[in-house]
Amino acid sequence: MKKISIIGAGNVGATTALFVAQKELADEIVLVDVLPGLAEGKALDMAQAGAIERFETKLTGTSDYSKIHNSQLVIITAGLTRKPGMSREDLLHQNASIIEEITLNIVKYTPEAIIIVVTNPVDVMTYHVWKVSGFPAQMVLGQAGVLDTARFCYFIAQELKVSAKAISAIILGGHGDSMVPLPRYATVSGIPLTELMDEATINRLSLRAQKGGGEIVELLKTGSAFYTPASATVQMAESILKDKKQILPCSVYLEGQYGISNIYIGVPVKLGINGVEEIIELNLTESELSQLHASAKIYKQNIFSLTMDRR
Ligand code: 2OP
Repeated sequence: MKKISIIGAGNVGATTALFVAQKELADEIVLVDVLPGLAEGKALDMAQAGAIERFETKLTGTSDYSKIHNSQLVIITAGLTRKPGMSREDLLHQNASIIEEITLNIVKYTPEAIIIVVTNPVDVMTYHVWKVSGFPAQMVLGQAGVLDTARFCYFIAQELKVSAKAISAIILGGHGDSMVPLPRYATVSGIPLTELMDEATINRLSLRAQKGGGEIVELLKTGSAFYTPASATVQMAESILKDKKQILPCSVYLEGQYGISNIYIGVPVKLGINGVEEIIELNLTESELSQLHASAKIYKQNIFSLTMDRR
């Protein structure tokens, strides 16, 4: 029996639950939220859609963490989201407290579960979950690169007027403006992107992808994106639960790969039933590597600031 628990019944959590249910990725979904009634109401509403959408996944909404027991996967989406003018890092200290409590409940009730963290600033929050849980790093990972890459693929497809399905790309680094799109590794039906677009266009689309989350925050005004963040999370969940061994950019703990240590940051990994099964080390140019190191430096500082704050 496959069971996924999703912590946080806000936009990302609820949309993730709906995608998981529609794909019947799990036999049971437990949606948890501290706000009484929120998870129960959304789970009940979603479950009723199953009569039309034809999914049979059991959906439970609750404020009671004990219901997450025996989950193979827990997805953490709870926390504050940014408003216009805020960076993801502005959420650091408040979300760290929320995340800590959630992690302790995961350790208590479902200590065998793999954890995907979505809460921002995701690279630092994933590090925090890993530290607080004491779980092996292979079992704790963050969602960001799949989302950032989806945005990049969409912008490329729009520019070339081709199907987004034809695009394959990758973005490394932290989930913030310092992320590192790698146009050299992007292809359109196998054709290198660099043969289809000039450098100025590639740079313009890369920048739009880097600032893609902020663009949506400015439009929504009251919160941040959730459809693609949820979709990206479900792609990771599917690769893990179905042992698909997809190679996806995820925030993972590095121990010397790419010359980076002791932080979580986005790099390509193989995702299977054991979580992060392999970290793929790409051959980067000097410029790509120095951009990745610049991004890593920011997250190292954020982790340091978090650690000092929680002493
Ligand atoms: C985003 O980039 C919410 O961080 C998320 O949209």
